Amino acid sequence: MKTISLTINDREITARKGDNLLWVALDNGIHIPNLCALRDKPEPMAGCRLCFVEVKGREQPVTACTETIAEGMVVNTQGAKALRLARTAFELLMASHPVDCAHCPANRSCELQKTAAYLRVKLKPKRFRKLVRELPIDHSNPQFVYDPNKCVLCGRCVWVCQQRLGIDILGFAHRSFERVVTTFADEPIGDLNCRDFQECIITCPTGALSLKDGEKI
Ligand code: FES
Repeated sequence: MKTISLTINDREITARKGDNLLWVALDNGIHIPNLCALRDKPEPMAGCRLCFVEVKGREQPVTACTETIAEGMVVNTQGAKALRLARTAFELLMASHPVDCAHCPANRSCELQKTAAYLRVKLKPKRFRKLVRELPIDHSNPQFVYDPNKCVLCGRCVWVCQQRLGIDILGFAHRSFERVVTTFADEPIGDLNCRDFQECIITCPTGALSLKDGEKI
């Protein structure tokens, strides 16, 4: 496989031609916030808008998860324009996310906490009006809980359920602020005989899917 060279944050990096910029950066220890990307998902959803970076020669920042690396590419993950866009996306996301970390099963492993620290933004930013959803929590499965209020709609569990596992229990429903990850006809998850839920729990970047009784996988 042909390799090419690029520069990220003044570091020269060699990677395989055709590789994705987000994974090249992460594999080389350069953090770029991301919620909706999955390494084995061929088409990025690019929905979270957290992975903005600046590429020399481009007028506007680009999302790293949708960018293929190129020979001689010069990337800056710390540019002011890129960080401003990522911060705005994060603050909008947090405007509809309940923040009660001390009682959340994802506390200390939550991607939102990591992203807030990286972007130096509070978990309860004040720029946008708080609009928290009050959706029913699904306790119907004996082993795990699904709390749609903590879901950030990254789509990772949906893709894992449908494409990686071929189970097709989870999907998106509704639009705009009503958009939610749910089951067909909103059936309780416990009625659907899902046995491979561990993969969905592992892929969830927040505490939306978690084991009961605070257990960890
Ligand atoms: S990881 Fe790139 S937009 Fe979500």
